[in-house]
This record gives sequence, structure tokens and C-alpha cells, in this order.
Amino acid sequence: MADAHTPVLVVDDLRTHFELPIGMVKAVDGVSFELERGKTLGVVGESGSGKTVLSRTIMGLNIASNARTSGSVVYDGRELVGLTPGEMRQLWGTEMAMVFQDPMTSLNPVVKVGRQLTEHMRAHLGTSKQEAKASAIELLRSVRIPEPEERFNNFPHEMSGGMRQRVCIAVALACGPKVLFADEPTTALDVTVQHQILNLLAQQQRERYMTMILVTHDLGVVAGRADEIMVMYAGKAVEKASTSTLFSAMRHPYTEALFRSIPKTGNPKHTRLTAIAGRPPDLIHPPPGCKFAPRCPYAQERCREEEPELQAAPEPGHSFACHYPVGSEAGKAAYEANLAAGVPQTLAAAGQVQATEDLSVVAAAAEEVV
Ligand SMILES: Nc1ncnc2c1ncn2[C@@H]1O[C@H](COP(=O)(O)OP(=O)(O)OP(=O)(O)O)[C@@H](O)[C@H]1O
Ligand code: SF4
Ligand SMILES: [Mg+2]
Repeated sequence: MADAHTPVLVVDDLRTHFELPIGMVKAVDGVSFELERGKTLGVVGESGSGKTVLSRTIMGLNIASNARTSGSVVYDGRELVGLTPGEMRQLWGTEMAMVFQDPMTSLNPVVKVGRQLTEHMRAHLGTSKQEAKASAIELLRSVRIPEPEERFNNFPHEMSGGMRQRVCIAVALACGPKVLFADEPTTALDVTVQHQILNLLAQQQRERYMTMILVTHDLGVVAGRADEIMVMYAGKAVEKASTSTLFSAMRHPYTEALFRSIPKTGNPKHTRLTAIAGRPPDLIHPPPGCKFAPRCPYAQERCREEEPELQAAPEPGHSFACHYPVGSEAGKAAYEANLAAGVPQTLAAAGQVQATEDLSVVAAAAEEVV
């Protein structure tokens, strides 16, 4: 019998590459992590870093014919890589479910929301029509849809964006999944509604003791909501840690750059925000060595030649892939050398150094942001 600390999900060296006539897009390139039951993992990275492909690969939702997947995903003791689409489908809804970014693309616009919920339950759980209706109304109530009996008969377009996303959450929860993927579940919503939806997800995750993977480009979103964070860059995990460790002892310059780009309400007024200089790499022809080197204020010659491996930090469960980590003597020297040499990305970051020195203020403030 598995105890509470047995990981429910063990992902090992997972790769999804897309074959194109011009070359191979290494969208997910050797990602490994473990997640215990009832915990939330925040997966954070810029657009194109591979967050969605990772989630879809784990769930077996990569239906693109040019996708090539290797590695291992063990869910509840069972290997998922290599299962047929039909075998994977058996797990959807009851074992794993996903809340997508845009509610309008995941809800059927011409089917009433009640039916979308009940069909799901009847197909996966074999629930009777009447039971399914009662459960669906209860579910709508639990995701705080007002007047759920009436809303049951609404079409998606008759609801606000926030309400539609609540319906998507209800659909995802309908068959009692044990693992919930929430892929940028709030980007299409305004800030106040974002906050409500994220809190609703966290509440449902706690009450149902679900394991959750919360995907976002915004480190602020996961600050108060994830137990662990995995930062992705160009298809790889570049830093992994518990949330508190990541916010207090980040080692990867990319994590630091994401951190500076959080709008922090608690920061002193003079603190400027930075967009990360440059663009993510071409995944077909990435730069040699560290893929973050062209944008990194700490980069040295070694970085352009030798790709850093993930290495363990002193804190338990903390690992990072960097030759000149933030907070180390080597990192400090590398940064200062670049600053003295007028390396552009260092100059862009220089005005922000103050913002990273008071991590406690920022971590606390990040929770208010969303
Ligand atoms: N079917 C496909 N064929 C080729 N490339 C693909 C395919 N699907 C995804 N990609 C590429 O894989 C990379 C990772 O994409 P992914 O959607 O996972 O990024 P993401 O981190 O979720 O970004 P975003 O924050 O914009 O959602 C991107 O470069 C994308 O263009
Ligand atoms: S210091 Fe070097 S290895 Fe570390 S992130 Fe920057 S470029 Fe990569
Ligand atoms: Mg995505």
C-alpha cells in the first residue's frame, strides 16, 4: 500500500520532439520530476518553453502525428508512455483531467453546459441521467456558479468568461480526477476574476486532495499556490525547488529574470519591472552550450560551449542547471565582469539588482498580485 509520500506521478527523462521538414523541434527535452499525492507543482516558463507540450504528453493528449515521445511517465505505479490512445482515454476524467487556457475552445458552443457535464459523467462513470443532473448542479454550485439550476440550461455564450472557466473546472472535476492539470487557466480573464479562479482551483485541490500541475508563465501566480516549482526554459527544467526555497534561494539566472518580471505590489515605488531581454531560442537550431546564454546577464565563455547539467543545491529537493549560479561567488564575479564589460543584458538587469535583494518582501507581495 502506497503511503502519502509515495509519488503519484514519476516523470523521467521525458522527451517530445516534433518532426518538421526543416528539422526536429525539441519541445520537451529530458524533463524529470516526481510529485506526491495532494501536492501542487507549478510549471513556469515563457511562451514556447514546452509547458503545454509537457502537460499534454503526460496526459497522452499529443495527437500530432509528427510528435515523437520517449522517456517514462509512471502514474500510480503504471507506465503511461507507450499506451495506446484508447488506453489513455480510459484515464481521462477519472484519473487525470485538464483545465485549458481558453474556455471557449474546450466547451462545445452549441451544447448546453448542463449536458456537457452530465454526458461526461454518464460516459465515464455510468451515472444515470437523473443522478448526473443532480451531481452536475451540485458541481456548478461548488465552483460558485450562482443559480446553478438555471445555469444548467445555459449555452456557454450566455455566460461571462469567468463563469465559463468555472464550468470548465466543473467539467474537469466531474469524474473525480486524481491529477488535475491547469494550463494557464486564467490568462483569458481579467485580474479580479483570475484571482477568484486560481483560489477556486486551490480550494478544490485541497478539498479533493488532488494532485495538481499548475502551468503558467507568471511566477507570481504560483507563489502562494504551489508546493513545488519547476522552471522550464527551451524544453528543459532549469530549476526545481520547493516554492519557499525557490523564492528565497533561487540559483538560476532565468528564474531570477522571471522573478524580476513579476509586478509586485509590495515593492518600493522606484522598483522597475523588466521584461526579459531577447527572445527564447529557436528550438530547431538552439545555441550551443546553455540555451539561455544569449540572454543571460551572467553568461561567460564556458556557458556558450558547455551545456550545464542539473545539479543539486544544498537545500533538499533543490536543483538547478547553471555554471555561474545566482548568489554564488562565481555568479557574482561573472555578473560583475559582464557589467564592467558593458554586456547589454547585464546593463538591462543592473537597475533591477535591488529588486532581488529583498526576496521576502517580493515573495509575500507576489501572492497579492495575480
Ligand atoms: N505539433 C507541433 N509541431 C511542431 N512544433 C510544435 C508542435 N506543437 C508545439 N510545438 C512547438 O513546441 C514548443 C513548445 O510549445 P508549448 O505550446 O509547449 O509552449 P508553452 O510553454 O506552453 O507556451 P505558451 O506559454 O505560449 O502556451 C513551441 O516552440 C511550439 O511551437
Ligand atoms: S550563467 Fe551560464 S550556464 Fe548559467 S544560465 Fe547563464 S548562460 Fe546559462
Ligand atoms: Mg502553453
